[in-house]
Amino acid sequence: MTDIAQVWDVLHAAATSRSPFNFLQLATIGLDGSPQLRTIVLRGCDRDKATVSFVTDMRSPKVAEILRDPRVSLVGFDGEKSVQLRLSGIASVVADDVARKSMWDRLRHRTLVLFDAPFAPGTPIDGEGNPLAPMPDDDGSAGPYEKFALVSVTVERLDWLDLSSELHQRYTFSGHAGAWRRTRILP
Ligand SMILES: Cc1cc2nc3c(=O)[nH]c(=O)nc-3n(C[C@H](O)[C@H](O)[C@H](O)COP(=O)(O)O)c2cc1C
Repeated sequence: MTDIAQVWDVLHAAATSRSPFNFLQLATIGLDGSPQLRTIVLRGCDRDKATVSFVTDMRSPKVAEILRDPRVSLVGFDGEKSVQLRLSGIASVVADDVARKSMWDRLRHRTLVLFDAPFAPGTPIDGEGNPLAPMPDDDGSAGPYEKFALVSVTVERLDWLDLSSELHQRYTFSGHAGAWRRTRILP
């Protein structure tokens, strides 16, 4: 039997180490209403606030999508334990500078340089050069820190599917921090 504390333990481990749920697939609603899916690194988890967080480029399409419609889903699969974890909730771009700075200071150099790219992710590139190199005409008006976005997702529903034994187990947890309702459902 799985309880909500165990699920948050798994998320906490994922946000602080290279465990299978460290990489999650994030679904947003595209600007044209189509589903949009991509991999992100889980960077933070706060069980008291029922939030998970990731970082991205402020200019990336996913940020525009979240600002237009903040409903998101995340899914991961732990192949060793045969567990799928799905989350859904409401995303927001964090404005609080203390939280932003604290995350920024934890990021490695190889992540920080991504925010220094002169153009938005998804911009077509001509030629074979290093697209992350500053362009001569880059006016430098926004530095990498301004281009960095910390996105927090307030989780409203978790769905835990455990296929490790013959009797598959599936539980959903809905509600909010401190008041989760667990329901066992058919897998
Ligand atoms: C293993 C892996 C981890 C990734 N982690 C992130 C991440 O944490 N944040 C991010 O913005 N993109 C990450 N990406 C790239 C995204 O999957 C995606 O290609 C990029 O962010 C553009 O997405 P968008 O056009 O939907 O905004 C990762 C890709 C892979 C393969």
